[in-house]
Amino acid sequence: MLTVLVANIKGGCGKTTVATQLAAAFAKAGHATVLADVDRQRSSLGWLGRRPADAAAIVGVDWTKEFDHPPRHTARLVIDAPAALKGKQIEELVKMCDVVISPVLPGAFDEAATKRFLDKLDELKPIARNKKGVAVVGNRLRPRTRAAEHLDGFLSELGHRVVARLRDSTLYPETAASGLSLFDLTGKRVVEQRVDWRPLLAFIEACASPPAR
Ligand SMILES: Nc1ncnc2c1ncn2[C@@H]1O[C@H](COP(=O)(O)OP(=O)(O)OP(=O)(O)O)[C@@H](O)[C@H]1O
Ligand SMILES: [Mg+2]
Repeated sequence: MLTVLVANIKGGCGKTTVATQLAAAFAKAGHATVLADVDRQRSSLGWLGRRPADAAAIVGVDWTKEFDHPPRHTARLVIDAPAALKGKQIEELVKMCDVVISPVLPGAFDEAATKRFLDKLDELKPIARNKKGVAVVGNRLRPRTRAAEHLDGFLSELGHRVVARLRDSTLYPETAASGLSLFDLTGKRVVEQRVDWRPLLAFIEACASPPAR
């Protein structure tokens, strides 16, 4: 089983968007996928509730009270963390995951909060010892804007791998509203935007099967 934790202490940076899109990508690729919602807002579980019956199946689990064992035979576990995550919870979730993905929006407030989160993350033993993959994902980027350029500069100084840059697109709120994702749909626009996810999916798969030493 490969466990992906999507987390950042900044609210609204795209954690649920990334978690739901990734879960759909894994399910569509044929992996037995579980989406664990730690956030009391239960946005991921709400998305699953809207998911059409004929879309690739994803099992939802409610982790708002405790972190349970995922169902047997789970191949991909995606954890959607809340912004208000306590230190102990971060530690526990990091311990059980293989990869941490942290979305970050352009803007000074978001960058500062993300830096605090990543600094906290770096203090945890499994991260300090390089036992987990960490991927920062720039989110809602508008190419050629000053904010996007600044975010690029900020991300490159963080010392963490900036794995993907997701563009600002109405496809995300649109697909979220119907329990779908870019990975469930076809059409020129969707296919074009799915390209943004390629480096992140490749990074995660590399964590799933590290090269033989
Ligand atoms: N790349 C994007 N392009 C356009 N809209 C986006 C993008 N990513 C996220 N959004 C929108 O931004 C809003 C916040 O995203 P989301 O709910 O995923 O953030 P979050 O980090 O999970 O928030 P919270 O901290 O409340 O859990 C949503 O309306 C979502 O549809
Ligand atoms: Mg959320």
